[in-house]
Amino acid sequence: MKTVNTISETRDLINSIKIQGKTVGFVPTMGALHDGHITLIREARKENNFIVCSIFVNPIQFNNPNDLKNYPREIEKDIKKLVEAKCDLLFHPSVEEMYPEPDNTIFDFGDLDKVMEGAFRPGHFNGVAVVVKKLFEIVTPHRAYFGMKDYQQLVIIHQLTKDYEIPVEIVPCTTVREKDGLAMSSRNQLLSKSERKIAPIIYETLKLVKVQSGYATISELKDFVHDQFRKHKNMKLEYFEIVDMYTLKSIRTWADSRTAIACIAVYLGNVRLIDNIILFS
Ligand code: PAF
Repeated sequence: MKTVNTISETRDLINSIKIQGKTVGFVPTMGALHDGHITLIREARKENNFIVCSIFVNPIQFNNPNDLKNYPREIEKDIKKLVEAKCDLLFHPSVEEMYPEPDNTIFDFGDLDKVMEGAFRPGHFNGVAVVVKKLFEIVTPHRAYFGMKDYQQLVIIHQLTKDYEIPVEIVPCTTVREKDGLAMSSRNQLLSKSERKIAPIIYETLKLVKVQSGYATISELKDFVHDQFRKHKNMKLEYFEIVDMYTLKSIRTWADSRTAIACIAVYLGNVRLIDNIILFS
């Protein structure tokens, strides 16, 4: 695997690959790679000839300076994992390389970025859109792979490619979970032992929501989830929403939509985790 830090070298390399008629699969990440990321690399491998991964902790998508400071960074370990996964190229730019000047682009995603993560992390999706658009312009992949855990991000990036006619296929990939059900996330390693022990409650609750969605009303399910988290004093529910999978609009009754996904954000101490479960699609 080749590691490149500059935009120009990455562009040159990818151009030479494309001239050979090869397809490029891209997995953008912020590093601290886990099996979820490696699964994305493997999926990309199945469908493309040349695999690019980027590792860039994008400062402008963090609305909380402590979150940015504490975000795990472990490039040597990441490189080893990428080599094992047979990634072809790692693009690992500095902040100066990506943002020689501040990028003040403002995106308009309508209501998509006003709810859930967007409501609780103001500016987050604008920062994601700035960096993902830039990365797509640099890497020019045929396909890009994103995990379903960050479902709202997936919908917004899809919208970004439509709005800007970016010729890339967005490939959603199933959330990879630990044996006890906890969705894999780089943030899991920030959990204390006791927090890690109770973290699976998040997905257990979502599974109970799915079972009950056959007969309970949405407001009953919301009460159920709020009650579940009130029981655990080390966990704080930030939001629980049941939304249409395409518009992300909140559903009040089951008749409101033909698709539904339940999304949740929970604090364990200072660590914020998100997850979701498709109820029907
Ligand atoms: O999901 C992530 O890791 C990040 O939001 C992404 C897509 C790499 C943009 O920084």
